[in-house]
Amino acid sequence: MRVIIEQNQEKGSVWAAAYIAEAINRKAAVTNTPFVLGLPTGSTPLNTYKELIRLNKEGKVSFKNVITFNMDEYVGLPEDHPQSYHTFMWENFFSHIDINPANVNILNGNAEDLAKECADYEKKIEGAGGIDLFLGGVGEDGHIAFNEPFSSMSSRTRIKTLTEDTILVNSRFFGGDVTLVPKLALTVGVATILSASEVIILAFGPKKARAVQQGVEGAYSHSWTITGLQTHPHGILITDEAAAGELKVNTYKYFKDIEKDNLL
Ligand code: GLP
Repeated sequence: MRVIIEQNQEKGSVWAAAYIAEAINRKAAVTNTPFVLGLPTGSTPLNTYKELIRLNKEGKVSFKNVITFNMDEYVGLPEDHPQSYHTFMWENFFSHIDINPANVNILNGNAEDLAKECADYEKKIEGAGGIDLFLGGVGEDGHIAFNEPFSSMSSRTRIKTLTEDTILVNSRFFGGDVTLVPKLALTVGVATILSASEVIILAFGPKKARAVQQGVEGAYSHSWTITGLQTHPHGILITDEAAAGELKVNTYKYFKDIEKDNLL
């Protein structure tokens, strides 16, 4: 995998947005087939969304022929709840770009039949031709999407119980009240993410340092689902100095050196 270590979150986010915009433009130059983009929520991707919005407004990238699939959604929160991932995505990204609303896909955490909702989501991804690029963040315990520790590395979209740790961390969005955080979520699986042609995981700040260390230097293991990225032929982990802080000096130097001219 590639590990990009930028000075801070702002610079890492600019790198990610430029890479995504270029991937969309590269496909648009050769085919009319839509670009299929997997997307996360959370505080981590916010700057990347801001930068993509800027690039869109400046005419440097268009989302008119982009289909999106979000990673996850809480179960049981009304779609218009301020903390639903539907609300998050429209407020922070979709309302500000030229995407066709019909091309936006987010799991319905209020579906009557949640298992069917998940199975249909996988079929819809397949029907769209598969995901070209999946962007994700990572939890402090190394989870990607809501694939908590010990999730199957071959998992597909399904319903998951959230760990106490994740509920606690996410309670900051619910006024610090853990009782208000949903206990269940629908999430794409580790294998859904890894089936994308390209995967970019963002990890910024000291709280993500352990997840980055495990993801890069740790052994492939379901206890840190981020390690699945090691098996992807085109995986990129974008971090900042703080999140890279637990890497061995030699690992750090290796990636700084090999990425310094950015030849690819
Ligand atoms: C949640 C989301 C993940 C996200 C993680 C980290 O658990 N399901 O997709 O990566 O939070 O969030 P943040 O970016 O706010 O640190």
